[in-house]
Amino acid sequence: MDRYDKEGILTQLRTSRMGRNLEFWEETGSTNTRALELAAQGAPEGTLVAADVQTSGRGRRGRDWNSPGGSGIWMSLLLWPQISPEKIPQITLTAALAVRDALSVQVPGCGIKWPNDIIYGGRKACGILTQMQAEERGLAVVVGIGVNVNTRAFPEDLRGIAVSLYQLTGKEFSRSAIAADILYYFEKYYEKFQRAGSFEPLAATYNDSLVNIGRAVRVALPDESFEGRAEGIDGDGRLLVSGEDGSVRAVLSGEVSVRGEGGYI
Ligand code: BTN
Repeated sequence: MDRYDKEGILTQLRTSRMGRNLEFWEETGSTNTRALELAAQGAPEGTLVAADVQTSGRGRRGRDWNSPGGSGIWMSLLLWPQISPEKIPQITLTAALAVRDALSVQVPGCGIKWPNDIIYGGRKACGILTQMQAEERGLAVVVGIGVNVNTRAFPEDLRGIAVSLYQLTGKEFSRSAIAADILYYFEKYYEKFQRAGSFEPLAATYNDSLVNIGRAVRVALPDESFEGRAEGIDGDGRLLVSGEDGSVRAVLSGEVSVRGEGGYI
């Protein structure tokens, strides 16, 4: 049922640009690394690199990303955005919205943990790693998306943190169909984002799914950490965190934990 290869994805695509130039690997180191190589060769906007297995999948903050075969969507999209570099994180938020929509079609109930994790009941089903590279033509942006789809079980250290659609439902899903859906929704949101030149028109939709909202959060910045209440994101994609003294701080990037029953997650 899951024909997960170049043909399998192409037959499901409903986009005009995203994923139309597609490279599929049975196994590669990291689809992000490969997409950055293609950027250096001048590959067009919307080029997609997808793989069944990543042998050195990368996560945020230098972590590894568990990417075994037959289980997940590991894919990277190349973009050449005409925006100022400080807006690049907003592309990652745009991708999170697209994944949220695509996963909701299959399994309702996911939320977004700022800035770009898709979670079900506190466990992560998707992570996004955006990387950029200066080229003669301009700034290349690679949005790497990892979704745990048909994973039966995770390694010990990820249990309790990660979850797959299979674990949530006991059913197998078509990775090609979900990958194509993500690209479909991404294209729509990205057009909106580009037209406006800002995340502003998407912020309310994003806040609708934000699990942090109204909750106690701990923000870890490189040189300090603080606690407060998450109020949602602003039009620039920054997380607004209010303190007990009524002050509001806008956080652009950093590790944010939400307070759950057993502490911060
Ligand atoms: C995170 O830490 O939450 C981000 C994980 C991003 C994983 C994806 S899988 C496809 C792409 N290739 C990589 O090496 N990483 C991203």
